[in-house]
Amino acid sequence: MQKVYLDNAATTPIRQEVIDEMVNVMQSDFGNPSSTHSVGRSAKAVIETSRKTIAKYLHCNAQEIIFTSSATEATNWILRSALKDFGIKRIVTSKVEHHATLYTIQALQEEFGIEVAFIKTLSDGNLNYNELGDLLSSESKTIVSLLHVNNETGVVHDIERIGVMCHQNKALFHCDTVQSIGKTELDLQQLPIDFLVASAHKFHGPKGIGFAFVRKNLVLQPMFFGGEQEKGWRAGTESVHQIAGMAKALQLSYDNLNAEREYIANLKNYCFEQISDAFPSTKQNGTNTFYNILNVLLPFSSEKTVMILFNLDMKGIAVSRGSACQSGSIKPSHVLAEMLSDEDLIKPSLRISFSHYNTKSEIDYLVKVLKEI
Ligand SMILES: Cc1ncc(COP(=O)(O)O)c(C=O)c1O
Repeated sequence: MQKVYLDNAATTPIRQEVIDEMVNVMQSDFGNPSSTHSVGRSAKAVIETSRKTIAKYLHCNAQEIIFTSSATEATNWILRSALKDFGIKRIVTSKVEHHATLYTIQALQEEFGIEVAFIKTLSDGNLNYNELGDLLSSESKTIVSLLHVNNETGVVHDIERIGVMCHQNKALFHCDTVQSIGKTELDLQQLPIDFLVASAHKFHGPKGIGFAFVRKNLVLQPMFFGGEQEKGWRAGTESVHQIAGMAKALQLSYDNLNAEREYIANLKNYCFEQISDAFPSTKQNGTNTFYNILNVLLPFSSEKTVMILFNLDMKGIAVSRGSACQSGSIKPSHVLAEMLSDEDLIKPSLRISFSHYNTKSEIDYLVKVLKEI
């Protein structure tokens, strides 16, 4: 059976060069980076070279990059530390954030009794930026946590504008760039972002590794206690091969960015055209969307909602309804719930997300199978 993977916002296939790099590091640089002998120093050098590579592509200092196991871990650490170490009393966020942010904030609210304010999401998935000024005028010390590209709809938020407003109002800005890192240029010398989180498996790197950018002069307390790894902020022996794999994946993503972006954007347009031709009242959920994510509301009856992913899966097609963790659950997506009418929410919406490994013939196959449902 043909296998078609169109769920690249959930995770991406690892590039062969990244696998080769990781195997090479596992074979040659197996030392403990904290050991002072040459075997250890060699592993340590792999980590520091990787840190420099990542910093180079993001235009920041290598010391501002802290390796973590995932973006979820980085967000948990940063938001918790902001409350404990910087005396933050208030978080401004949106209801369309990833659960890594939303559930962390919910837990912190219960634990610390802080105030949480939500900027309104419009029906097209964009934020009501006009509200942000008012939300930031509070006297309480505030951190704003908003993502760059929404993982379900692909709607792109104006992080430059958000960052400028945060800094004008003396608020800190934490940005989840999981869906955009490696897929668009991010210049941290220009962007007024204090904390950023990223995850390698979203840009053709390995799973279980990510990083936080923590702007110079912002000193956080350790998330774990133990050794001196990662400035003593994240104790525990580093995963050298995963760090090297992540740096390699980011390097390849940025080196190939222009060609791959153009290719993927064309595929996305082609996909929307083909689906719209086959089902004329198809609507795209969200405007101002990123080039690799297409979220479509299909003009099918609501009875088909539950079965559609199963039917596609039976034909070898991997797509998603909302975010990966919600696939297969009949709970509506919390993101689409903010955007769609009750009537549209119960109809099938599909998130189709592309990479440079996809082809037009895979899209033709998807449309053919959709027609048979
Ligand atoms: C926008 C966004 N934030 C955070 C995460 C969590 O990242 P990780 O898998 O590294 O924990 C994801 C992954 O689905 C995501 O899409």
